[in-house]
Amino acid sequence: MHLFEYNNCNWGNNRTLEHLYEEAFMKIGIIIYSKTGHTKSVADTLEQQLKDRGHDVTLDFIEIAEQEKDVMHPEITKAPDASPYDFLIFGAPVQGFRLCAAMSTYLNLLDDMKGKKFACIVTQALPFKWLGGEQASRKMKSIVTDKGGEFIGHSIINWNKADREGRIDDTIKHILRLIEIEVAVEA
Ligand SMILES: Cc1cc2nc3c(=O)[nH]c(=O)nc-3n(C[C@H](O)[C@H](O)[C@H](O)COP(=O)(O)O)c2cc1C
Repeated sequence: MHLFEYNNCNWGNNRTLEHLYEEAFMKIGIIIYSKTGHTKSVADTLEQQLKDRGHDVTLDFIEIAEQEKDVMHPEITKAPDASPYDFLIFGAPVQGFRLCAAMSTYLNLLDDMKGKKFACIVTQALPFKWLGGEQASRKMKSIVTDKGGEFIGHSIINWNKADREGRIDDTIKHILRLIEIEVAVEA
């Protein structure tokens, strides 16, 4: 039984699970860069599943100027504000065996991340995580940790592998579980 099913229970002092969520101040932000839509599709499913469970979640996208010549130093035209959230999920693809420059540039622009927990989702085409996926995830972790954020977990999805759908499923379950643990700890 997941937490949402307890929503109408009385937790003492007339506190429902909804009150516990509010008291826990768990605002969740999913911040994504997606060039061809793969990472976006995972984020869309995650957002929907979090909403279905009653979480306060916002999905937002990093945008860059369409100057593909200069992908190493893209101009960020939209940088989502990370400050309202307590728990962030950053999602991005591998490009050139490393974290795409749009996400690394964005993360480097972030202010202090102290008090914020975060998880990372990486998608890549190649079938092995060591062909950029692990490197990309480590990069996201190190930039945000250096700004004071607390790394909670990550997942890498190898897009062209036969078990992709299963991997997406596992990723969503993993992130939902991490969030529900955090909600329980905060409450
Ligand atoms: C410019 C560029 C470079 C890429 N380099 C890699 C790479 O080094 N390793 C890899 O596994 N996939 C690579 N890919 C594939 C993407 O990582 C993969 O398709 C990813 O799921 C795309 O996510 P998106 O649709 O959210 O942008 C690259 C794609 C592009 C466009």
